[in-house]
Amino acid sequence: MQFFIDTANLDQIREANELGILDGVTTNPSLMAKEGIKGRASILKHYVDICEIVDGPVSAEVLSTDYEGMIAEAHELAGLHKNIVVKIPMIKDGIKAIRYLTDNGIPTNCTLVFSAGQALLAAKAGATYVSPFIGRIDDTSNDGLQLIEQIVNIYRYHGFETQVLAASIRNVNHIVKCAELGADVITSPLPSILGLLYHPLTDLGMAKFIEDTRKMEL
Ligand code: G3P
Repeated sequence: MQFFIDTANLDQIREANELGILDGVTTNPSLMAKEGIKGRASILKHYVDICEIVDGPVSAEVLSTDYEGMIAEAHELAGLHKNIVVKIPMIKDGIKAIRYLTDNGIPTNCTLVFSAGQALLAAKAGATYVSPFIGRIDDTSNDGLQLIEQIVNIYRYHGFETQVLAASIRNVNHIVKCAELGADVITSPLPSILGLLYHPLTDLGMAKFIEDTRKMEL
């Protein structure tokens, strides 16, 4: 399973990358706005900055909501760097755009996916990745992980090549469960990735080892 970081914060991307476990990055308009990025030129430069940190797929989202606008933006984004994946929303024009981009060799990430039916459409259109938002589904008192299981099963059964990219990850359990369920990729904020490091017995064990190391008077 691949690990992507879900942020547009360059320091956090560097920190995850330096761990040596990072395979890619996903961003969205909310994450870009959070970093205070304003204007088209700054947006494009920020994607290039991210691509220069991480040697892997970087999802950059279109801001248009109509087919022509999405295609024009997709060409501009894809031209920035070889690792750009164009993120397209799950709307009618988005599906048309994914089909066009797939046919023209531009990788896509279909975002804002909340049902198996939407994931099926994204796969039919040839999306490289599909992004079910599991945390936001949990927020509605439904089970986001169940959707991951459903999509993984459908894709496996029918041999779709679209990769299941579990998004809207909120905790360590989401990451571990996605691994168990066979998600191809998780994209997570840094705290949940770092959360995988911790176990109280590791802390206790380390404290004891450090104490006993002192006894050996190195
Ligand atoms: O990048 C899309 C997705 O991961 C957003 O997550 O936490 O805003 O629901 P969140």
